[in-house]
Amino acid sequence: MELYTPEALIGEEEIALRIEALGKAITQDFENEDLVVICVLKGAFMFCSDLIKKINRPLKLEFISLSSYGDSTNSSGNVRLEMDITANIEGKNVIIVEDIVDTGLTIKTLMELLSVRNPKTVKLASLLFKPVKLKHKVNIDYLGFEIEDKFVIGYGLDYAGRYRELPYIGILNAGN
Ligand code: PRP
Ligand code: MN
Ligand code: MG
Repeated sequence: MELYTPEALIGEEEIALRIEALGKAITQDFENEDLVVICVLKGAFMFCSDLIKKINRPLKLEFISLSSYGDSTNSSGNVRLEMDITANIEGKNVIIVEDIVDTGLTIKTLMELLSVRNPKTVKLASLLFKPVKLKHKVNIDYLGFEIEDKFVIGYGLDYAGRYRELPYIGILNAGN
């Protein structure tokens, strides 16, 4: 049988602990408020499903699908809106949930798309941040981990559509 265990960068337990802390911070920051959580598909699906379990506030869950990497390890420089949210966010407290901020283009595009809909507040939760590749100024309100310049996979993150199901964050190697 083929060995299928990409090298780990951040393990399951470490991820769970960090998410618990992020959930607590969000819960405290939005005392007496309700929330609209927007999960950025596909990459953020696993982080978002774990994070919302740790947010002890009334919330509505929305999904948006944005894509720019396709089958490449580099951003195409072009963010495609594949599916929009269905809720009206006017006057609402929005939390965007992303798996990673890399060049920052996806978040920049999404912020512009949402701000014209007049939400009350927009905050960003991102599990990962790769500062070396950043091209657009992005403020991450709730950050999981800052990482080095390696192409990461697992826990929702893909390479050419694969590895999203890994329960940990791994590193893409030539042998994978
Ligand atoms: C990845 C990742 C982020 C974005 C980050 O999405 O999930 O959404 O890229 O990169 P950036 O900061 O350079 O824009 P991708 O385009 O691979 O789509 P996916 O989530 O469906 O995998
Ligand atoms: Mn994505
Ligand atoms: Mg991707």
